[in-house]
Amino acid sequence: MEPAGGSAHDQSTTPVAGRGRAFSSVRVNARGEEVRIVRLAGSLFVCSKANDSCCCGWAEKGRMPFANALWSDEWERRRVRNRLHLTFTGCLGPCAAGNNALLQLHGRSIWLCDLNDAALVPAVFDYAQAMIDAGRVLPPPPQLAAHVYERYLPSPATDRAVVAGGGDGDGDADRSDLDRIDPVCLMDVDPATAQHTVVYQGRTIVFCAPSCKTAFLADPGAFVVA
Ligand code: FES
Repeated sequence: MEPAGGSAHDQSTTPVAGRGRAFSSVRVNARGEEVRIVRLAGSLFVCSKANDSCCCGWAEKGRMPFANALWSDEWERRRVRNRLHLTFTGCLGPCAAGNNALLQLHGRSIWLCDLNDAALVPAVFDYAQAMIDAGRVLPPPPQLAAHVYERYLPSPATDRAVVAGGGDGDGDADRSDLDRIDPVCLMDVDPATAQHTVVYQGRTIVFCAPSCKTAFLADPGAFVVA
């Protein structure tokens, strides 16, 4: 079946050095240009007062107040940015159950509620990491069991088509695509015009900015390098 919305985008997959994971990209069109987007295991969305939530993070509404760094520091410390994206949002919808977060992983939406204890933050990342390592969705650990629920109606059995740009990531490797990816921020950088590069393990790695190059040189093994 052809994916909804037209033909599938090209994909490329190749093993990640030293990690045994696949590094996969998809080509998409934006503003008349073709760009490469790295495919991730998933995203974590955290409803935040700093991002104009109406309830989550509001002490005056009985919720645990937090600075975004409570989540972002843990995310950075675990070095999962190339597999799990972190986004702070405004209202996600189920305000009464806040503080709320939404974990989208392996094609599933895993809703988390009542995150009003700082100890739950590392527990959420532990859970996400366990599912990334397992390559599938797992039941929540005991610490999170009361915080995880299904918010969305199940899809009709017939509605299982992969949307455009999806697929299983088993496309043929395309070295030229992967050589365009900044391994720190995952931006698409044209090697022909890249101003920040470093030769690593015989490959020229491109970066979008000096800060990404600095971060990479500080700990190359922490970043995906296809
Ligand atoms: S304010 Fe967080 S879900 Fe509405």
